[in-house]
Amino acid sequence: MRNNIFLIGFMGAGKSTVAHALQEICHMELVEMDERIEACEHMTIQEIFAKKGEDYFRTLETQLLLDMERKQGCIVSCGGGVPMRACNIEAMRRSGRIVYLSARPQTVLERVRDSHTRPLLEGKMNVEYIEALMRERRPKYLAAADITVETDGKCAQEIGEEILQKV
Ligand code: S3P
Repeated sequence: MRNNIFLIGFMGAGKSTVAHALQEICHMELVEMDERIEACEHMTIQEIFAKKGEDYFRTLETQLLLDMERKQGCIVSCGGGVPMRACNIEAMRRSGRIVYLSARPQTVLERVRDSHTRPLLEGKMNVEYIEALMRERRPKYLAAADITVETDGKCAQEIGEEILQKV
């Protein structure tokens, strides 16, 4: 059964907010990948990057996605880098549908500019950097996705309903 729903997309695309809205609508279990990883490691994402390195974090992401193959009916809010590994996309495909939440760089910047929880954006909170990283990642998001939903100018409830209509 492929009935998990994986929300992918750039940092600040609204994956967590939309995941909560989806949960309100359809009462599926919610899995926040970053939160799960932080809880298992007893460290924040920034601490994991600083003390163990990015590769270590990426392996934890892959392990969690493999674990999701034993679960059903979950909404999974993925970290923004998840679709950069082909094996992660394969694991998601085996257990669910992949929904790409797309957002313009300016929208992302407005959503993330005051937060300091994302090591990849620390000291690089500007639209040019976000645009460049997004350009690099977007082909992978698009290739991974079963469906794509534009999020600019829409509320989480609207996006949640659009997802349920499309999946
Ligand atoms: C990352 C996105 C973050 C978090 C980590 C790396 C990325 O999650 O997993 O900082 O590589 O895009 P969000 O997309 O929830 O911000």
